[in-house]
Amino acid sequence: MGTNGSRPRQWSRRPWLERTKSEAAYHAQLNKGRLIVSAPPRPDAPPIARRRSRVHGWGVFALAPISKNKRIVEYAGELVQNARATPRETRYLKDGCIWCFQLNRLWVIDAGVGGNIARFINHSCQPNCHSRIEGGLIWICASRTIKAGEELSYNYFTEGAGEIPCRCRAGCQNML
Ligand SMILES: C[S@@+](CC[C@H](N)C(=O)[O-])C[C@H]1O[C@@H](n2cnc3c(N)ncnc32)[C@H](O)[C@@H]1O
Ligand SMILES: [Zn+2]
Repeated sequence: MGTNGSRPRQWSRRPWLERTKSEAAYHAQLNKGRLIVSAPPRPDAPPIARRRSRVHGWGVFALAPISKNKRIVEYAGELVQNARATPRETRYLKDGCIWCFQLNRLWVIDAGVGGNIARFINHSCQPNCHSRIEGGLIWICASRTIKAGEELSYNYFTEGAGEIPCRCRAGCQNML
């Protein structure tokens, strides 16, 4: 999955790689040789919880109203280069799972390793959240006011031929 419009404006591999790595490292911790990206806990984080979802398996739900544009949770996981993420994605997809989130052209955050609750947020073609990249972190933010009890969702913007039929709403014909 990816973030709409997250491409670097000017492509230059080395500076981008170094900058992304240092930005992410600012928020990251080495754990058994893996760089795990996650933001420090915030007292103002909206309360959310993992619950069974009508869309698929587990989902994440608002426990209180969330205002528009509020940063809800960061998408935590291991920072890996694209080349290393591709075989992981293939392996995950065999189990019907998508855990890798494209941070930029070189880096991916793999929530299958060191991920947090954000990895259980389901996709929707008409989502109430969106992703925003800030300083090497991927934030899931509210796209509108979200009521207590609503399931959170964002558009995965998956690339290539989708293999998973989308169940975001009755009659959705899209594939993830
Ligand atoms: C990031 S996980 C979300 C958490 C997942 N529901 C679970 O229980 O592990 C992504 C996976 O959830 C499923 N999923 C998410 N959104 C979906 C949707 N709109 N329709 C069908 N499956 C979905 C797909 O299997 C996808 O690979
Ligand atoms: Zn859909």
